[in-house]
Amino acid sequence: MEQTFIMIKPDGVQRGLVGEIIKIFEQKGFYLKGMKLVNVERPFAEKHYEDLSSKPFFEGLVEYIISGPVVAMVWEGKNVVATGRKIIGSTNPSASDPGTIRGSFAVEIGRNVIHGSDSVESAKKEIALWFHDGTVNWHSSLHPWIYE
Ligand code: TYD
Repeated sequence: MEQTFIMIKPDGVQRGLVGEIIKIFEQKGFYLKGMKLVNVERPFAEKHYEDLSSKPFFEGLVEYIISGPVVAMVWEGKNVVATGRKIIGSTNPSASDPGTIRGSFAVEIGRNVIHGSDSVESAKKEIALWFHDGTVNWHSSLHPWIYE
């Protein structure tokens, strides 16, 4: 089944939103397959955001990501990449729909609480980067009650 990489950014951790965010993905019916709390080193943050290295906000973005611990997670389920992005809401919280994570919990684009892979391809890349020792293999007994 499809997997995505989700990261609760330092502001989300500092503001005590970890439980709330995990709850949203759990209750949707996705499966948690990997999770760790980490302080990100600068070169690693730069690698994660390498596609944005030419952007004017890159330096500030890297500073933000290394400013405190983040929660890195792998979630699995049908269409989890695209659905995860919908749950998260658009990049700028001012434009995020109410009820989305950014729409509910964030105000500024540079403090938007959470990251989610934007495609299946980038999910694979990000999971390999963040979880190079692999994820946890387990199966939910509720599976037939969530998936046809
Ligand atoms: P991006 O990958 O475009 O958005 P998303 O996180 O929704 O996939 O950008 C990565 C992060 O960079 C974004 O979450 C917040 C930050 N950012 C800014 O600080 N300013 C900006 O103008 C943009 C586009 C992004």
